[in-house]
Amino acid sequence: MSRTVYVNGNYLPEEEAKISIFDRGFLMADGVYEVTSVLGGKLIDFDGHAKRLQRSLGELDMATPCSTEELLDIHRALVEKNALVDGMIYLQVTRGAAGDRDFAFPDPEQVPSTLVLFTQSKPGLAEDPKVAKGISVISIEDIRWGRRDIKTVQLLYPSMGKMMAKAAGADDAWMVEEGAVTEGTSNNAYIVKGNKIITRALSHDILHGITRAAVLRFAREAQMEVEERSFSIDEAQAADEAFITSASSFVMPVVEIDGAKVGSGTPGRVALRLREIYLEESRKAAR
Ligand code: PDD
Repeated sequence: MSRTVYVNGNYLPEEEAKISIFDRGFLMADGVYEVTSVLGGKLIDFDGHAKRLQRSLGELDMATPCSTEELLDIHRALVEKNALVDGMIYLQVTRGAAGDRDFAFPDPEQVPSTLVLFTQSKPGLAEDPKVAKGISVISIEDIRWGRRDIKTVQLLYPSMGKMMAKAAGADDAWMVEEGAVTEGTSNNAYIVKGNKIITRALSHDILHGITRAAVLRFAREAQMEVEERSFSIDEAQAADEAFITSASSFVMPVVEIDGAKVGSGTPGRVALRLREIYLEESRKAAR
């Protein structure tokens, strides 16, 4: 069934939605994005995603296409128009189309940004059967640029990473820089040792995950110990548990790293508990 999508102020059938070949998102990857999950027809962590979008736009001197309230209205309209129950809403803002190819940024007064949103239906998103078994990851070198805290559409290397994982028979890849894990191709990475949850500290090296912020808050509220520091693949393989977080996977146990079982090789107690708390609290706060 054809979706209704949003392009620059218009709701259109997906076949009719068009953007210019000169759009800088297309030519230069000059754009930022957000992925917000939808459970039971409601938006999970919308405020966090809207706030990070503002930050990404600000870091790149890109004009804000509309207010957060308008963005919320567009998200809700798309949920309604597509009768979306469980799934995701993808949002992308680019620096617009200047009518030619030029490295210099166009004047934002002359060239409005492009705003595109569409839905992705994933019935039963929160009941992913992979949770019961956990996923496997391989490690790959992190060769991305130095501002991974900005959620840009430069996703070629993460796509390549997922293909490398697939070729190796694994589910995903963790990226490693100077001996330490940065993050997963599209998620934040964690290990658990004893009662301690360990995850890399925020910096320009990783995306400041909205799910990460919520999960760490819930963990601290549940009196779990959180240590924000780097860890190596060796330390992860020797940990009791490992897991990832993202808007589309929530909290997902990792049971194998580079072919070595983590802990017992089954989803860990801490990861499963955090998933439960995250889903329960996020559903309660969903808008
Ligand atoms: N990815 N790190 C990277 C590199 C990511 O691309 C993502 C999200 C995350 C987790 O962030 P959050 O919890 O805010 O979703 C961490 C999205 C889901 C994607 O590209 O589809």
